[in-house]
Amino acid sequence: MKVVETIAAMKAERGKLAGSVGFVPTMGYLHEGHLALVRHARTETLTVIASIFVNPTQFGPQEDFATYPRDPERDLALLEKENVGVVFMPSAQEMYPQGFSSSVAVEGITERLEGKPRPGHFMGVTTVVAKLFNIVQPDRAYFGQKDAQQLAVIRKMVSDLNMNLEIVAVPTVREPDGLAMSSRNTHLSPEERKAAPVLWKALCLARGHWENGEKDAARLRQEMTTLIEREPFAQIEYVSVADPETLEELEKVDSQALVSLAVRIGGTRLIDNTMLGG
Ligand code: PAJ
Repeated sequence: MKVVETIAAMKAERGKLAGSVGFVPTMGYLHEGHLALVRHARTETLTVIASIFVNPTQFGPQEDFATYPRDPERDLALLEKENVGVVFMPSAQEMYPQGFSSSVAVEGITERLEGKPRPGHFMGVTTVVAKLFNIVQPDRAYFGQKDAQQLAVIRKMVSDLNMNLEIVAVPTVREPDGLAMSSRNTHLSPEERKAAPVLWKALCLARGHWENGEKDAARLRQEMTTLIEREPFAQIEYVSVADPETLEELEKVDSQALVSLAVRIGGTRLIDNTMLGG
């Protein structure tokens, strides 16, 4: 496994590769969710390239960039075990040298859900992912369903800008009690960790009602809200039942819906989602 830190070295490694390349971009502190993306990529492409870069431009001024968990040595050992070919680990200076002044913006869907409380977040994501795609030149790139809006935004960028690669979605990997794996779960105290599966419980409740014939989106949102409000550690940021492509809120769930939510458990902001009818 090659580990490279500069853009020039990454491009040189890419130039040596023949056959298909699968790419897994990450911010590190890897868990089974990230490794599921790598394993999926392994089954479909000859060489897997992963990146580890805690991207400063996608964090707001009040967000957890400084305290975002980091453990590059452990990450590299995990990626080596998964037969990753190349790991790209640039510094912030390498990605955003002085005078850097370009950005990639996807409008519309980036203003809803995660975009509302986090202005500029998705512009940071699309800009860094566009840069990574240009540097790594993958045939396929792998993203988790866990971040459903991010996935929709990346698909839109790739389609709108005619980027020459395929985006592959990988299902969310969960803890045995349903909590979606996330690097941020390490911020939870033991009591908060016990409360955290309330996100998944709310999503399952909505699915259950929907499967029993409830099509009214407002009632589905209300059922989830009531359940979460019973959990003392939980504070709801949003509960959404939306069109999976435009992310506009639905009145009725006739065919498909993305049910998603953001909830603060103590000081930690968690997100999760499930697709109805998909
Ligand atoms: P990060 O949060 O490290 O996630 C990297 C990838 O792993 C994303 O595609 C995310 O959806 C996926 N992932 C995270 N938890 C998962 C889980 N429990 N199950 C399945 N997949 C999971 O998302 C980012 O980094 C950044 O925004 C990035 C795309 C790297 C751009 O900076």
